[in-house]
Amino acid sequence: MLVERERDFERLDALIAAAGRGQGSVALISGEAGIGKTSLIRGLFGRLPRGWRAGAGGCDALYTPRPLGPLHDMADMLGPKVRSLLETGERQQLFAAILDMISR
Ligand SMILES: Nc1ncnc2c1ncn2[C@@H]1O[C@H](COP(=O)(O)OP(=O)(O)O)[C@@H](O)[C@H]1O
Ligand SMILES: [Mg+2]
Repeated sequence: MLVERERDFERLDALIAAAGRGQGSVALISGEAGIGKTSLIRGLFGRLPRGWRAGAGGCDALYTPRPLGPLHDMADMLGPKVRSLLETGERQQLFAAILDMISR
């Protein structure tokens, strides 16, 4: 149970509702370690309208991050075409396929 996040969820719910009307957006969530960023995002996923899909990816806390790590993390959700383009490393086609998938 998350405490004191009603206002944050209300603002994010409004962005989700706008996305449902075709108006996408980017929300930046920042804060110190342990403040509850990951919990907020997981909570948000639980509030999505029925039938919506959500993907989450994280940047590795490594000195040399894996290229496209967040996309590999959400590869299953992005579908077989994106998965195969991730393997071949065709970046331009990869980004076009992701944009196409998100647009749909
Ligand atoms: N709003 C909240 N109410 C209660 N517990 C919370 C809340 N947000 C986070 N926590 C707890 O605090 C801890 C750290 O949260 P987490 O989401 O991992 O932080 P962050 O991703 O910012 O590092 C977790 O144990 C989580 O369950
Ligand atoms: Mg976190």
